[in-house]
Amino acid sequence: MVNVRNVRGGDGLADIRAEVDDILESVIENTRQATEDFFESYGENPDPKILSAWIEPRAWREIDYVFLLNEQIRRYGMQFSRKHITLLAKQSFQEAEHYEMVGEVIESLGGTVPKSVPAQAKPWSDFLWDCLERHPLAAIAAWNVSETSASGSFEPTFKAGEKFGFDAVVKVYKKIAIDEKFHVGLGVQILSDYAKTDHDREEILRAMRGMRDLAWKTFTPASVKANI
Ligand SMILES: [Fe+2]
Ligand SMILES: [Fe+2]
Repeated sequence: MVNVRNVRGGDGLADIRAEVDDILESVIENTRQATEDFFESYGENPDPKILSAWIEPRAWREIDYVFLLNEQIRRYGMQFSRKHITLLAKQSFQEAEHYEMVGEVIESLGGTVPKSVPAQAKPWSDFLWDCLERHPLAAIAAWNVSETSASGSFEPTFKAGEKFGFDAVVKVYKKIAIDEKFHVGLGVQILSDYAKTDHDREEILRAMRGMRDLAWKTFTPASVKANI
């Protein structure tokens, strides 16, 4: 589990720390619960196609992060230190690897790897791109909530993997879980270092609140049913 209080970087979030922590903790819990609910309903009919349908919007999230990170660097990169440009580029490379790995899992389950945004991931994607337009830190704040949220799915996924025997899924998500610790830590570090004004903090909170209401929804049994 990611320790959301373990922050490195500047003190740019100090004034909004309590709300940021509340948001991050609540999305972990919502996603954990949604993932448990999904695997409980999956147990009634453990069909690989259903598992694949559950993973497909997450494959899109991986490749959308690649597009978002590269646009973030192109548009705002010169406002960041060279170290942070490099780390954002490293994150982008890892998200591309995730898209490749998750794609292989989907194909092994008989599913189709998305090449355009799936309907269940559209509100999530639209919100991130809107954030990217608004402010140099807003998309980073939104995807930090989303990535923190996803960390709540790992434990229930590994438990279900043991129970139902989908080893390939577990192997891929164990690798992703390691990378996500770096992504989540990098996001908090950048927000803490570059948030300087009350306006910056308002935009960060707006982005985080908006993503809190969206991020966990693609993990629910209902979103999978809508996809089959
Ligand atoms: Fe990822
Ligand atoms: Fe990530």
